[in-house]
Amino acid sequence: MKLHVLTLFPEMILQGLAPSIIGRAVEKNILSLEAVNIRDYTLNKHGKVDDYTYGGGAGMLMQAQPVFDAWKAVTGGKRVRTIYLTPQGIPFTQKMAKELAGEEELVFLCGHYEGIDERVLEEVVTDYVSIGDYVLTGGELPAMVMIDAVARLVPGVLGNETSAEDESFHNDLLEYPQYSRPEVWHEKKVPEVLLSGNHAKISKWRLEQSEARTLKFRPDLYEKYREKQHLIKRLSKDKRNNIHMMESLSRGRGEVLYSEGENLIIFDREAATCMMTAENEETARKLSEKLPPETKWVISNQNFVKEVLESLGYGLWGSCSQYLYTAKESLPVRYKEIRSLKTEDVPYVSSRYEHDTEEYIRERIQAGDMYGAFDHGRQIGFVGLHTEGSMGLLYVEEGYRRQGIAESLEAYCVNRCLEKSRTPYGHVMEGNTASEHLQEKLGFYKASRSVYWLSGGKG
Ligand code: ADE
Repeated sequence: MKLHVLTLFPEMILQGLAPSIIGRAVEKNILSLEAVNIRDYTLNKHGKVDDYTYGGGAGMLMQAQPVFDAWKAVTGGKRVRTIYLTPQGIPFTQKMAKELAGEEELVFLCGHYEGIDERVLEEVVTDYVSIGDYVLTGGELPAMVMIDAVARLVPGVLGNETSAEDESFHNDLLEYPQYSRPEVWHEKKVPEVLLSGNHAKISKWRLEQSEARTLKFRPDLYEKYREKQHLIKRLSKDKRNNIHMMESLSRGRGEVLYSEGENLIIFDREAATCMMTAENEETARKLSEKLPPETKWVISNQNFVKEVLESLGYGLWGSCSQYLYTAKESLPVRYKEIRSLKTEDVPYVSSRYEHDTEEYIRERIQAGDMYGAFDHGRQIGFVGLHTEGSMGLLYVEEGYRRQGIAESLEAYCVNRCLEKSRTPYGHVMEGNTASEHLQEKLGFYKASRSVYWLSGGKG
């Protein structure tokens, strides 16, 4: 990701971020960070960049010319996403950070004095953002706040296998309390459950703590969370058919774009995937108009929704059977040499898995969602979770098949899901009997309806 900051104090940005994790990511070339001095672009021979405000009023205003020329030098005049930091902007949130983390290039424009001439803002700014309801002396600190929050979500910045998933705001909940050694400090003991080694119990305790904290400190967030839980409960009446939507919501991935009775659109922004159900053909047609333009995939388990979308230009990629594992017990893993994959394993996986791109595989591995089987250290297979949450990405080398290794890989993946209190589920392409048998052997249940994956659409 390329980050440019247009500022009167470039050293503030560079010195502020250099010693941090963001600075390390810059050194490793995962990010590039450039701070451009707006003053270098003024045509005023005294280096002035500000002047009095027309109509009167206290203070000076940054003039259009140096700001525009600095912006043009950085972008070449292309319409790059340009964020102006201002207390008048839209409040910055974790959701916005997640969305911006998907961009290739961002420009941050920092104002000073009383602001910037409106005319240049109209020409270059795409987003007006505030970091809170208070007034600072300039946009540099807000730009640094935003860069920190956005950049840490870029794959690779936090390092291997680190997931930003369990954190505050990830699921409209604040984070649970955490403890480190010693076990007793100031006569306060670490809660017993955290010493139990029982991951399912620990997850449950943490969720309860998160809920209690959110209710106490952020009742506004708690209300949002409660509404989502209500929808999950409704969907759970037909769990087998709805598990993909329930998991999308409970894992904090899916946003409810529309919900009215049976008419439902859940959008997984990162996976650019919408999950959709409708009451009838007519409402399916109306709902399809609400699909965001960035949608790459639509999943539905209703035949008429599939037909409506096909008539609108979406292409059917595949019909799948949906399988879910409802037991709470972990599965035995007979093949022992299995571990989480690391960035160095990307070439092995991408050269053997032709359904997805290397970029996708890298992102999945860096998210900590892929596992590999090894024979004396040499990789022989893998399994993983797709971005939107379903299990898949399964492969075992020819010479190692029919020895239960695929079964062990899937069992391993199921166990990791259970540790995180997720319900493991997957989509098996209809007709793939070998995979269907494997799901049944592991104790998965099959949903009564097919799941259709459609691609394309408006674009
Ligand atoms: N510039 C000054 N105050 C600000 C704020 N609260 N958010 C963003 N930019 C600002």
